[in-house]
Amino acid sequence: MNKKHLNIAIDGPSGAGKSTLAKAIAKKMNISYVDTGAIYRTVGYAARREGIEPTDRAAVCALLPRISVEARFEDGAQYMYLDGENLGERIREHEISHYASAVSAIPEVRQFLFDMQRSIAAQNSVVMDGRDIGTVILPNADVKIFLVATAHDRAERRYKELLERGQSAVFEKILADIEERDARDSNRDVAPLKPAEDAVLLDNSGFTPDESLEAVLKILDEKLNLGGNDEE
Ligand code: DC
Repeated sequence: MNKKHLNIAIDGPSGAGKSTLAKAIAKKMNISYVDTGAIYRTVGYAARREGIEPTDRAAVCALLPRISVEARFEDGAQYMYLDGENLGERIREHEISHYASAVSAIPEVRQFLFDMQRSIAAQNSVVMDGRDIGTVILPNADVKIFLVATAHDRAERRYKELLERGQSAVFEKILADIEERDARDSNRDVAPLKPAEDAVLLDNSGFTPDESLEAVLKILDEKLNLGGNDEE
């Protein structure tokens, strides 16, 4: 049996609202949400655990064969395991964002995580979010969406999110960090953040979460012909 799985790719910079939207789409379409940022965060976490500078390519490369990174899906949620241990919310710490961004610029790290991401999408219907899903990981995705919003808007959302989680946050620092990560994620040599040629661009600056979801569902509707129009 050669069942074709549905693959939806959502790329864009940090804080554009990819994960919120991808989760809502996954729920609505009864498919899996795959957070690829969490996978890079796990490698970033491993680097910090070992006291490795995340920009030190040789040290990070030497770490890779010594670690096991696994994504497990239980009850619709994704859990990241490092050496068999569930890291839970630890990968969400603000400092880990910096580690993840730095290690993700290392080509060997991207190569190390490539097959894992590909095979999840080959075996499941997924909405996968990240930076290079439409360009590198799933170039044949059924729908590709590239989500953007101004750095200020994204910093504001991240700031509120951190406060809601009970973490301390300084808005100016969040904005500066977002700008630094944008520059690094977009200017790296390997798999830089950029829209695939066939991606639909959506700027959701100033949108409420509901308005963003409505706009994305409209795109999916058009691309996947969900309206029930049988014409092929
Ligand atoms: O989406 P996020 O903020 O959790 O991602 C953490 C970092 O991982 C981000 O700075 C860039 C990197 N990343 C990547 O390079 N490619 C992906 N597909 C996903 C994330």
